[in-house]
Amino acid sequence: MQILETSRLILREFRPDDADALTRVLSDPETMRFYPSPYDRDGVENWIARNIRRYANDGHGLWAMILKASGELIGDCGLTVQNVDGAGELEIGYHVRRDLWGQGLATEAARACRDYGFARLPVERIISLIRPENQPSRRVAEKNGMTVWKETIRKDLLHLVYAIHREQLTEK
Ligand SMILES: CC(C)(COP(=O)(O)OP(=O)(O)OC[C@H]1O[C@@H](n2cnc3c(N)ncnc32)[C@H](O)[C@@H]1OP(=O)(O)O)[C@@H](O)C(=O)NCCC(=O)NCCS
Repeated sequence: MQILETSRLILREFRPDDADALTRVLSDPETMRFYPSPYDRDGVENWIARNIRRYANDGHGLWAMILKASGELIGDCGLTVQNVDGAGELEIGYHVRRDLWGQGLATEAARACRDYGFARLPVERIISLIRPENQPSRRVAEKNGMTVWKETIRKDLLHLVYAIHREQLTEK
């Protein structure tokens, strides 16, 4: 099911047969350098299954990022609920295949998810959880209108909690 369309991208729900294309994204050691390890094929299949469960339970999750020009699956971006210091927060997450970095694709997708989240869900705030060293991801959050709200520890690692509030969006 298609969720969102931007000038260069379609975001749609993942399907089990996306595992090969998503493995090209999530098994890359450089792409996954801020994670405990790159995903293997089994890990990617579990990752897709987890997001399909999220669509059913939450109505949203991480969605497949499709490049309209080629029809290829080139990453993911979407909205998940994350526990931050005991509270459920709506998070925008993103991964892009490494050969396509630096073209503004993550920013384009993240902005669409931000607008979708505020339009469709009753939240006052949307966040992104980012390791301080992850400069490209921090830039995407900043270009998405977010600023650092606070720090938190996740899986023993320091993360910045970037956030944007609903009223900031309507001010723009
Ligand atoms: C974070 C990520 C999704 C950004 O994707 P992208 O499509 O390249 O993003 P954009 O082009 O919209 O913007 C990326 C920003 O990082 C910069 N950037 C791109 N590649 C970079 C690199 N290798 N090193 C440093 N900065 C880089 C870009 O210049 C841009 O900032 P700018 O507009 O100020 O110049 C991508 O780098 C990625 O998949 N990283 C690994 C997964 C990850 O860490 N996800 C986020 C978890 S919190």
